[in-house]
Amino acid sequence: MVAIAFYSITGQTKKFGVKTGLEAHEITDEFPQYDMKEKFILITPSYQDFMMDSLVDFLNYKDNKKLLIGLSGCGNRNFNDLFAQTAKKISVTLNVPILYLLEFSGTEKDVQNVRKIVKQLSAGETTTRKVEKPKELRGNISFLSDYR
Ligand SMILES: Cc1cc2nc3c(=O)[nH]c(=O)nc-3n(C[C@H](O)[C@H](O)[C@H](O)COP(=O)(O)O)c2cc1C
Repeated sequence: MVAIAFYSITGQTKKFGVKTGLEAHEITDEFPQYDMKEKFILITPSYQDFMMDSLVDFLNYKDNKKLLIGLSGCGNRNFNDLFAQTAKKISVTLNVPILYLLEFSGTEKDVQNVRKIVKQLSAGETTTRKVEKPKELRGNISFLSDYR
């Protein structure tokens, strides 16, 4: 199985990860600098940039940002244009495709869909998804702007 890392502040993303039954590394505020060592998918909630320092530390550690092959963004559609803003910013900045977007801890359908995507990637299928620059961001990708 392809490796997975996730970050969670209030526990929704963690809950989603548990529901998928997939093994995953939890990025923590206490120990964000963890070396993934292999290609991985990141599942990230969405917050303002200043709340994502641990995630940035994690991505900047060793080769993590180069090893990132796909993103799944968790958020809340009530945020409208800012829905899943963190995944969208990372996607554009690091040129990594968004594989899936979901709300809160995901529905049963979301769980099935993400499991399927992970299975496909693990079987060596490459994603055909392209990085799409979300129009609402208008280039505001400040918190990762010094990335690769
Ligand atoms: C202070 C705050 C800011 C948030 N900002 C956004 C946002 O900009 N875009 C979005 O889609 N969701 C936003 N959310 C919703 C969370 O991303 C969503 O509830 C997510 O499931 C939380 O994941 P977590 O519990 O793993 O941290 C915000 C939630 C809070 C409490």
